[in-house]
Amino acid sequence: MSTKAVLITGANGEIGHGLVSRLTEKNPEINIVAIDVHPLSKTLQDQCHEVIVGDIMDSSLLDRLAAFYDFETIYHLAAILSTKAEREPVLGHRINVDGTLGLLELAARQARATGENVKFLFPSSIAAYGLPNVAVKMKAGKVKENEWLDARTMYGINKKYCEDLGRYYNWYYRQLDPQQTTAHVDFRGIRFPGLISAVTLPTGGTSDYGPEMMHYAAQGKVYDCFVPESATLPFMVMPDAINALLKLEATPAKNLTQVVYNIGAFSVSAKDFYDVIKKAFPSAHVNFKPDVLRQKIVDSWPADVDDSLARKEWGWSHEFDFKRAFDEYLIPAVKNRYGK
Ligand SMILES: NC(=O)c1ccc[n+]([C@@H]2O[C@H](COP(=O)([O-])OP(=O)(O)OC[C@H]3O[C@@H](n4cnc5c(N)ncnc54)[C@H](O)[C@@H]3O)[C@@H](O)[C@H]2O)c1
Repeated sequence: MSTKAVLITGANGEIGHGLVSRLTEKNPEINIVAIDVHPLSKTLQDQCHEVIVGDIMDSSLLDRLAAFYDFETIYHLAAILSTKAEREPVLGHRINVDGTLGLLELAARQARATGENVKFLFPSSIAAYGLPNVAVKMKAGKVKENEWLDARTMYGINKKYCEDLGRYYNWYYRQLDPQQTTAHVDFRGIRFPGLISAVTLPTGGTSDYGPEMMHYAAQGKVYDCFVPESATLPFMVMPDAINALLKLEATPAKNLTQVVYNIGAFSVSAKDFYDVIKKAFPSAHVNFKPDVLRQKIVDSWPADVDDSLARKEWGWSHEFDFKRAFDEYLIPAVKNRYGK
């Protein structure tokens, strides 16, 4: 008989670290199957039922998993992030799109075999948006899910297309088959803002200047910030991001009218980051040296998002505003990490 389990791809990443721990805290009996191309830390490994160091593009690996497990929920976190995907667009497309398609197919096969819906949690991104310039961006303010969807990066295009794939698998999969299956892929996506973790280092996102500034300051290193002081994006701390994934996962499907939702916490400029970091680490030094090309990408992402649908349909609310995020989570944890 197959073992009921939860699959997490990209489990060794920033979100994966927090998610594995929170899932096991919530339910110590949970069977987590984790896949990542990099080995997980010993602490994370101990919290998982099985850890696979492998590639989501390996279809025989996915076949083996399907044979041994009944996945009730899949958290598909593995991806090539925005900066790397822009430098290697074909690789970005392959892992972000083809990789997601493979996981969606695995979920659809499992739903067919077990007769139970398989929840598929997908972290999309504000990179799915594309605004033409800073003036329009600042005027647009809080952007709704269906506005400004002209993504300009390979990563953003990949995310947007995967949302569409999710919509297809959720509502229209094999719609011409004479015999419709009773169970399907229950796709649920969140367009995350820039995420800030005190525990892990960022790994190549275009919104990483905020967290990088903080980690450099805590180590007494000078940081060359690749956007100007005025660059503004929505951000959120990792505990809120994990809460959102768990809350959306737990919401009854009948409450959800969409397959993807904005969520927000605070919208701040690069200078706002510097001011608050400087208070905590008075010797912090940041040179604002905009990289015009990376800045253009930041300029095309919204300054803020309208998350009223998520608040209404699945009770989303953030716990950490900008002040609380730094005072109660980031600064204490980062000081502890670097022994300050
Ligand atoms: N961190 C953010 O600010 C942010 C914002 C919006 C959306 N997201 C999305 O959330 C997800 C997780 O992000 P993260 O910040 O934890 O990223 P991350 O880079 O820290 O983690 C991604 C993980 O996926 C793994 N991976 C990459 N390719 C793989 C492959 N082919 N097979 C198996 N594993 C592979 C990597 O080794 C890494 O551990 C991604 O889909 C990302 O696009 C992140």
